[in-house]
This record gives sequence, C-alpha cells and structure tokens, in this order.
Amino acid sequence: MKPNVLITKPIPAEVESFIAEHCRYTMWNESGPMPLEQYHRLLAEADGLLTTTSDRITKEKLDHAPRLKVISNIGVGYNNFDLDEMKKRGIIGTNTPGVLDETVADLIFGLMLAAARRIAELDAYVRAGRWSEADGANLFGIDVHHRTLGIIGMGRIGEAVARRGKWGFGMNVLYHNRNRKPEAEAELGAQYRPMDRLLAESDFIVLMTPLTPDTHRLIGENEFKLMKNTAVFVNASRGETVDEQALYEALRDRRIYAAGLDVFEREPLSGSHPLASLPNAVLLPHIGSATGRTRADMAMLAAENLVAALEGRRPPNIVTS
Ligand code: DGY
Repeated sequence: MKPNVLITKPIPAEVESFIAEHCRYTMWNESGPMPLEQYHRLLAEADGLLTTTSDRITKEKLDHAPRLKVISNIGVGYNNFDLDEMKKRGIIGTNTPGVLDETVADLIFGLMLAAARRIAELDAYVRAGRWSEADGANLFGIDVHHRTLGIIGMGRIGEAVARRGKWGFGMNVLYHNRNRKPEAEAELGAQYRPMDRLLAESDFIVLMTPLTPDTHRLIGENEFKLMKNTAVFVNASRGETVDEQALYEALRDRRIYAAGLDVFEREPLSGSHPLASLPNAVLLPHIGSATGRTRADMAMLAAENLVAALEGRRPPNIVTS
C-alpha cells in the first residue's frame, strides 16, 4: 500500500499530482491552520507530513504521530522543528534551500528601498488626497545607491542581496558571518567585519541569519546603540533574532532612521502592536518567498524530499542540526 501523507496547506495542482503518484494523502484546504484536534487525529495515521515553517512541530504533535517517518517543510528555515525529539523517534526533517534565494533577496531590497524612500508612508498621503503636502523636506528620504550595505548572515540569500547592492546600486558591501566567505570577498569585494564594526559602519543593515540558540535576540538595545542614527535596519530572517521592544524604542526615539520587517517575534503581528504605530517601520506579513513561481518550486522540492524519504531514498535536503 502507498504511504499516507498529511498536507497541512493547499499546494499547487502539479505538486498534488506528483504526491498522488506516490502516496495516499489528506490535504487541509481551508484558509488558516487546521484545528489541533483534527491535526492530531490525522497525524495518527500519517507516514509523512508536508507542512510549512509556521507549523510548530511540538513534542505533543509528535506524540500523536507514531508512524511518522519524515516531516518536509515548504521553506528553508526549520526552527519550527524540535530536532532532538524528531531524532529520538527516527523522524527525518527536510527543507527547501536554493529555490527561494533570489526571490527573498528581491523582497529584502524592496524593504530597503521602501524604508529609505518612505514608500508606504507616502503612498498613504496620495490615497488620503494629501499629495500637495507630501513633498516637504520633512518627508524626504535617504539614498540607497552608493551607501554601505552590512549583511549579517552571509548565506545564499545574503550573497544574493550583496550582488544586488554591489552591481545594481554601487554599494560598498560589508558582512558578518560565522565563517569568512572568500568567494564573496573576491567576487563582490565584500569585506568581513566583526559585528560591532559592521553595525557602526553600515547605512543599511540586513539581518539574514537563521534562528538558533546562538542568534536568539542577536540584535538588541546595545546593537541598536551602535548603529548610525541614519541607519536602516531590515530583518527577513526570523522575528526572534531581534529584541522587538529594543527595536521599537530605537525607531520611536529616532536612534535609527527606519526599519523594514518581514518577520516578527509573534506572527501574525497584531494590528495594535506598537510597531504598527510607527511611520518609520515598513511591516510585511512574512512574504519573503511569496511569488507564485517560487512558492510552487518550494512545494515541489518539499514533495520530492517527502517522497524520497518515504521510498527509503536519501532526500536531497535533510536538515541535521
Ligand atoms: C522560509 O523559507 O524559511 C521562509 O521564511 C518562509 O517561512
């Protein structure tokens, strides 16, 4: 009999057909998450789980999944996994690196431009019929081109951001990373900096590090104090890499110029969150990879990982730590 798969979110038809060739499956087709009781009931029968990075894989869920062999994330991050518990139970975890790099880098540049040139703020003036009020010096923005771009977390997405900065906008690129990146240094002239120097020298600071115990609240009050008061801070990694209260205070007190945020400590962000009251914060609903083509590619890669594991082959993208 074909293995049984639980899919927690609607997926493109071609991905569904691929899964149907290899597996029996149940798919949650509603908007919003599946009720927990139903999720637990379906997990009891599941050999494989195809899910997204917003789905926290808790010990409780795993306790309801005695047959589970693989959890395949549609996403590159996997901080939603409890890897220790999964390992104890022999459950493989997989993710979707590579296919989303350029799309997320585009979005990061969008956030940099929107925050620096006050795009959302000025859009609101036009919609409110206040065009003529919107050209005063108090609403001027700051330049992006030829400024200094500091990237924290120089993985594939960080490098894609660096290429845009260097070749598209003539920016000077600094980076901080666990390991030096000789190729990025040679190709882009990217210069390594210790964290404190990167924060002090950069005009645009892009945080792209994965969330781990080491990067939890990596950027807090002290780090914001090191930034220029003209700095633009962009986070498209995970909300928990930043102390959100410290970020709010730095923006409110104009200790930094602006922020572009795609991720938050608690998602979805409430409309009454203090950050939502600030004109110098551009807020997006965690859409870094959200183009039709890229989300379809991610779903297909996740399905390939899933099917490989269920057929006893090594999935192309196993996560280990
Ligand atoms: C990812 O792929 O990890 C994105 O942040 C979407 O969750």
